[in-house]
Amino acid sequence: MRMVDIIEKKRNGEELSTEEIKYVIDGYTNESIPDYQVSALLMSIYFEGMSQSERADLTMAMVESGDQIDLSAIEGIKVDKHSTGGVGDTTTLILGPLVAAVGVPVAKMSGRGLGHTGGTIDKLEAVPGFHVELTSEEFTRLVNEEKLAVIGQSGNLTPADKKLYALRDVTATVNSIPLIASSIMSKKIAAGADAIVLDVKTGAGAFMKDEAQARELAEAMVKIGNNVGRQTMAVISDMSQPLGFAIGNALEVKEAIDTLKGEGPEDLTELCLVLGSHMVVLSKKAETQEEARKMLEDAIESGEALNRFKAFLSGQGGDASVVDDPAKLPQAAHKIELPARESGQVSRIIADNVGTAAMWLGAGRATKESEIDLAVGLMLKKKVGDDVKEGDSLVTIYANDLTEIEKVKTKLYESIEISAEGKAPALIVDQVTGK
Ligand code: URA
Ligand code: CA
Repeated sequence: MRMVDIIEKKRNGEELSTEEIKYVIDGYTNESIPDYQVSALLMSIYFEGMSQSERADLTMAMVESGDQIDLSAIEGIKVDKHSTGGVGDTTTLILGPLVAAVGVPVAKMSGRGLGHTGGTIDKLEAVPGFHVELTSEEFTRLVNEEKLAVIGQSGNLTPADKKLYALRDVTATVNSIPLIASSIMSKKIAAGADAIVLDVKTGAGAFMKDEAQARELAEAMVKIGNNVGRQTMAVISDMSQPLGFAIGNALEVKEAIDTLKGEGPEDLTELCLVLGSHMVVLSKKAETQEEARKMLEDAIESGEALNRFKAFLSGQGGDASVVDDPAKLPQAAHKIELPARESGQVSRIIADNVGTAAMWLGAGRATKESEIDLAVGLMLKKKVGDDVKEGDSLVTIYANDLTEIEKVKTKLYESIEISAEGKAPALIVDQVTGK
């Protein structure tokens, strides 16, 4: 097989075979095929697209390029959830204990990553003592006993995807639906899930800002998952404004605790119930969405979801008393209100700009080397559609370092629009199933 022939075939709009795709991915992983040839192929894919079978083949070739997590020692159907990322997305912290409370095993591998706030692991590390350095035996035991554990990312998961993503970044080929869909799905499949619920965000704070593109990505990922034998479905949800009120690590842990108690923000609670119901159905703990939702609502009502969160934290060395006493979480030195400069209704809260303001406070990483301040962040006091009077607080800013505070305030004022009338966007835009 010759790489140049494969490039030519794709350039001419023909379909690549399973063997050809495997040849490219293996050759690129072991460095026998150079960047410049893979770049040419990526650009051809960008313009010519990929068929369903090519997408499935690319996904599986990337899965097979490194370690695959074996969850077979864990009883039951393991369902993973993946969000394409947004601002103040606290769902993972809530969904884990929530679905675990009704018997769904959650074996979660998570990362730190870049962004407006830390990843799930950073957030959980706001709980004193909590750690994710588990052996695979401890991980398996915790999931079997407590139905929930979180482990740090293995070093050699989908190395082909890491290399390809870096190359796409510098060859203007990131924005290709077949490449994005295979990239995301390869990581979920290598992490061992039997079934996958995807939360594809759309709006200013999302990777896919445009609804039509979000839908196309959701459909592409659902087809790949089902074609490679993992039951997959997607919810398309709004990320034009941040989810919930909290954006920041310790603040989001507190918000997760509130939500597990049944006292969380309406939008965050609803999204968790929708995503959670799909997880419960896919793991065959309920037959219908309605039945699953009722089980989850009962788990919140009875306190079982909150107890599950406490057991999970102590199981991984964390101080579970933070659940009853959130003052034990890291606290910022300064709390600053941002008063509205006019009256009316909130008509827009531009999610990505609010996220950037949180990052400037130190809640997230701008580069891999940045240090996160777990205590800082933002609490929205108003959401789109709410009435505001001049002088009302729009946001509480939690800060330690005040050197950039004026820049943060300016950014927030620019991100929050007040008009005569504002209407809350629909939270659940659509659902995509494999059927
Ligand atoms: N996120 C991923 O993991 N891969 C992509 O290609 C794009 C976003
Ligand atoms: Ca939030």
